[in-house]
Amino acid sequence: MRVAVIGSGYVGLVAAACLAEIGHDVVCVDNDSARIARLQSGEVPIFEHHLPELIARHRGGRLRFQTELGPAVREAQAVFIAVGTPASEEGSADLSYVELVSRQLAEALEGYKVIVEKSTVPVYTSDWVRRTVARKAAADAQFDVVSNPEFLREGSAVTDFLYPDRIVVGADGPRAAEVMTELYAPLTSGEYGRRAGAVPRPAGAPDPSPLILTSAKSAEMIKHASNAFLAMKISFINMVARMCEAAGTDIEHVAAGIGTDRRIGRSFLRAGVGFGGSCFPKDLKAFRAVAEEMGLEFRLLDEVLRINEEQRQAFLRKVKGALWNLKGKRLAVLGLAFKAGTDDVRESPAIALVQSFLKEGAEVVAHDPAAIEAAKAEFAGLAPGARLSFVSSPYEAAEGADALVILTEWPEYARLDLDRIRKSLREPVLVDGRNLYRPEVVEGKGLTYVSVGRKSAKSPVATN
Ligand code: UGA
Repeated sequence: MRVAVIGSGYVGLVAAACLAEIGHDVVCVDNDSARIARLQSGEVPIFEHHLPELIARHRGGRLRFQTELGPAVREAQAVFIAVGTPASEEGSADLSYVELVSRQLAEALEGYKVIVEKSTVPVYTSDWVRRTVARKAAADAQFDVVSNPEFLREGSAVTDFLYPDRIVVGADGPRAAEVMTELYAPLTSGEYGRRAGAVPRPAGAPDPSPLILTSAKSAEMIKHASNAFLAMKISFINMVARMCEAAGTDIEHVAAGIGTDRRIGRSFLRAGVGFGGSCFPKDLKAFRAVAEEMGLEFRLLDEVLRINEEQRQAFLRKVKGALWNLKGKRLAVLGLAFKAGTDDVRESPAIALVQSFLKEGAEVVAHDPAAIEAAKAEFAGLAPGARLSFVSSPYEAAEGADALVILTEWPEYARLDLDRIRKSLREPVLVDGRNLYRPEVVEGKGLTYVSVGRKSAKSPVATN
């Protein structure tokens, strides 16, 4: 099928590459000519596992990049809108890019098209897109607007696209539903996963992926509600972690005990420094704004955000508690990305915490396997005298530091040579914001270990 994807950001680029991978003829359009030139020359502007190989495989063949929207739309049967929906000042989603693209594509409509809303948008956006396109398009233009939200996680976006838990299609008529069903057939039949050279299926992914056909409004609601629910799980477990600390027990045991109930599930119950990223904080605020417009107060969402903010403050107190004063202390910080597997630092709890450490007068020596360049931009306006440097290994960071502080759950940070770390540190203190170690293991190496929601291994409560 011929497909146009408008927007070459995270969602657009992954969708374009994956749609080409499953067999479609895709044109990815962006008005940022420098970005398109980089993509045309084979450069991959985002850090995402499998994406470079897919772009290399299809670029110039089934996957093309261009700045002209009109010809791409005219050729396509399905036109994906995957442009940004940033938060406005009040927290609601700013839909001006979606509106602009809707107008532009309307002018190029010929024959029947399915317009697919892929960006994360509030319920009712599909109605607005439909009205905007109808107003601008030729009188005989035929089109349907479909909502097809993405559930991609940064770091595993390609496999999330190719082997999703579900594909949600909100189509209000049979013709559009048919086009979308055909578009995703290689995934919903399982045929793609059986092809030689297919990106391997991750363990536990459904085989094949189910397609949920619903209305456009339901699909829009599914996206926001899914992210809000996942964020709620994280804040819930973080609050329980604080109770575990007060009770002198272990959040890891409690989370496992809760999560083995299949009605609850184990995922998204990892206590830590709170959630960040370009999605959860923004989508929670946008979902709350949608409720407000409906005259409803969704205070649960406020509480999820409040607990998340408090979690960072609580972690800052923990670091201070381990070292008494931060002024003049040197902290070895491991992790700047908002989570492992990405170079993205947007709304990263690690960045916020490093800023707090610096404000308290600490010197920070930071490491991250992928996000140092992105992080540098975040620290551009530091107060004069702030001492921040970046190094290329965790051991270099630890050299002469008063404590090692883990802020991102990169797998390599869970496999550190703790003997070497202890010898490198000036003071043998490890403050772990992601619970990557068992307390008895770290303390067995002669380090003081402070983690989230857990007592020290030296306390009398038994651990396994
Ligand atoms: C999230 C959703 O998981 C995707 O399904 C969704 O498509 C995407 O937002 C989006 O709307 O575009 P993402 O932001 O990439 O994906 O990251 P997550 O893996 O969900 O993690 C979000 C944050 O929560 C990270 O800071 C992570 O460290 C934190 N987290 C996650 C926890 O603190 N504990 C957990 O148990 C899980």
